[in-house]
Amino acid sequence: MSDELASAIASVTEVAAIAAFDWVGKQDKNAADKAAVEAMRNRLNEIDFHGKIVIGEGEIDEAPMLYIGEQVGTQSGNQGLDIAVDPIDGTRMVACNEQNAIAVLAAAPTGSLLQAPDMYMEKIVVGAAAKGAVHLSHPIEKNLELLSSALNKPISHLSIAILDKPRHEHIIKTIRNFGANVITIPDGDVLASLLTILPEHPIDMMYGTGGAPEGIISAAIARALGGDMQARLIPRDKAKGDSEENRLLAAQEAIRCQQMGIEIGEVLSLEQMVNTDDVIFAATAITPTVLMGGVSTDAYSRISNTLLVSGRSRSLKIINNRYFN
Ligand code: FBP
Repeated sequence: MSDELASAIASVTEVAAIAAFDWVGKQDKNAADKAAVEAMRNRLNEIDFHGKIVIGEGEIDEAPMLYIGEQVGTQSGNQGLDIAVDPIDGTRMVACNEQNAIAVLAAAPTGSLLQAPDMYMEKIVVGAAAKGAVHLSHPIEKNLELLSSALNKPISHLSIAILDKPRHEHIIKTIRNFGANVITIPDGDVLASLLTILPEHPIDMMYGTGGAPEGIISAAIARALGGDMQARLIPRDKAKGDSEENRLLAAQEAIRCQQMGIEIGEVLSLEQMVNTDDVIFAATAITPTVLMGGVSTDAYSRISNTLLVSGRSRSLKIINNRYFN
């Protein structure tokens, strides 16, 4: 992918974050999401490429825009790209004016990103130093031991990030009882994956069940920066509780998985999720994050900070852009 196209793609998360910024603290998750989705889609459709959303806001019948399978880009030029989007990772954080909400996207040449339904996904993410050391099908205690050997750190010095959700109560207790530290995050597992993969941050592993779009986007970061990840799709009734509604949704998910040729519960390797190093990841902070400032405004302009990771050049840059009114 050319640097020019990568920069154009990075501007997509920029416009999404700027649009979402108007909704920070307004307690309206849906309006924030709608603004980000619209901005993202409009910008994508100005860029010369043949794009397809492989994982995004949901299925065509439930998401009017950026649905799985939607064609984006001007459909001209000679570059075809698979796109995975999460216009806001942390919609609740935007609504409540909390830190660490970001607009994110991953892109790679057509056929390189796994197409999956928008459902739950169990994920395990580590940085380059622990590549190949852990496996999703091991009990968490065994993975902590393997991680401790790979990183040459006692278990008591390991820090594991996990979404603070009722489904994780048991696993959080197990990790703590085993002696490792738990960093609970209210929402936003893409940022947690990124911080796990970047070597200078104090998270040694990200584990737990979150969204599949966030999973594929995290896999793009791992692939680009030499980290590692495995994942498996989890039916809704297993992630959110065994109600009649969730069982019905799980049955629909099973049909979608069958149509897409993915087996629920199969452990997916990083290569199955992203099969090329020519992948980019872009994230623009909406509210302030540990890595970069959120959107800010003054009388004349709006300022955004975007992190652009390129797998081809194995590089990361932060783009500070000022848009004049
Ligand atoms: P959205 O802002 O897209 O809803 O995602 C926030 C998030 O915390 C993700 O980072 C995570 O993967 C997912 O939600 C977990 O889902 P749930 O909140 O339903 O447990």
